[in-house]
Amino acid sequence: MNIKENDKLISRVLQNWYQKNKRHLPWRETPEAYFVWISEIILQQTRVNQGYNYFLRFTERFPDIKSLAEAPEDDVLKIWQGLGYYSRARNLHAAAKQIMEKFHGVFPTSYPDILSLKGIGEYTAAAVSSIVYNLPHPVVDGNVYRVLSRLFAIETPIDTHGGKKIFAEAAQSILDEQNPGTHNQAIMELGALVCTPQQPKCTECPLQPFCLALERKTPLAFPVKKGKTTQKERFFNYFHIQQNGFTYLIKRTKADIWKNLYEFPLIETNTQRDLLSLQSDDEFTRLFPSSANVFLTHKLRLRHVLSHRIIHADFYFVELDSKTVFDAGAKYLKIKSAELFKYPVSRLIHKYLETI
Ligand code: ADE
Ligand code: SF4
Repeated sequence: MNIKENDKLISRVLQNWYQKNKRHLPWRETPEAYFVWISEIILQQTRVNQGYNYFLRFTERFPDIKSLAEAPEDDVLKIWQGLGYYSRARNLHAAAKQIMEKFHGVFPTSYPDILSLKGIGEYTAAAVSSIVYNLPHPVVDGNVYRVLSRLFAIETPIDTHGGKKIFAEAAQSILDEQNPGTHNQAIMELGALVCTPQQPKCTECPLQPFCLALERKTPLAFPVKKGKTTQKERFFNYFHIQQNGFTYLIKRTKADIWKNLYEFPLIETNTQRDLLSLQSDDEFTRLFPSSANVFLTHKLRLRHVLSHRIIHADFYFVELDSKTVFDAGAKYLKIKSAELFKYPVSRLIHKYLETI
């Protein structure tokens, strides 16, 4: 049997397995571009179980491209809250506007047009164009990368010189060009349900007869990892101010994590500080110049892990008596404490709010 015939067989076996074992998900029943797009963006960062609820919430609030394009950004971020990677929500919003302006409100149907949308890279363009329009573009996401590396015992890490090309070629070689949408979903589903990272269920796997990693009895040796990226540490000190039923927030506007989300007044430091050392910091004195009437209590220390950084956060409760003027207040948004929950916040802040 030559390679090409074998590849065709792999896809046929894969698709048979998928038809019997796939999870029934709302965006799979009648693939419509808007829903497939939203689901793929959500699933890039979340497992199906958790993403499912976000998908329902998101599409209930924004049932179509127009309603998403016309929504205030705060509303989009609020629905996204807890999912992380907020730039994806902002990009969804921007792309919806792009579709209204450039494509008359209709989701584009060609691969280059789809790729031209904000936040849509090769992966999402391949997923949407194959699932919705049956265009022959293979997807390579984390699941597919793992399956392919095991199936063909590929030892080149994907994030090295030449790695990306090797995986793109392997993906293209097994693609069923007649049914690219089903094929792509099938290989992703196999990666999610059977060929899992830690304990692949090889005995249940339809690809056993073809799998080189299994033949070598070393599935866990794949995918091969390049030197792991180091996680940068950051130290956040938050001040939850209380004064006559009001508190203060500020919107993060810089090009940094959590852009356009709200948070309490913050002092970022280079190391972890206790209250005493924090109080002698210039920034602290600027925030609370008349420290005599400021009562601070340390409420919570949280360790919050993001993809490339670890945030060590300390939360302080700050009581200002009603006479004290909060000099730095002009920089902040003064809101009723009861309305805190209305603002889109990071998951870190959300975790804190849940404890009070
Ligand atoms: N993960 C991301 N997109 C997926 C899809 N369409 N099917 C299965 N798992 C996925
Ligand atoms: Fe993955 Fe095992 Fe199937 Fe190979 S046989 S594709 S390692 S689950």
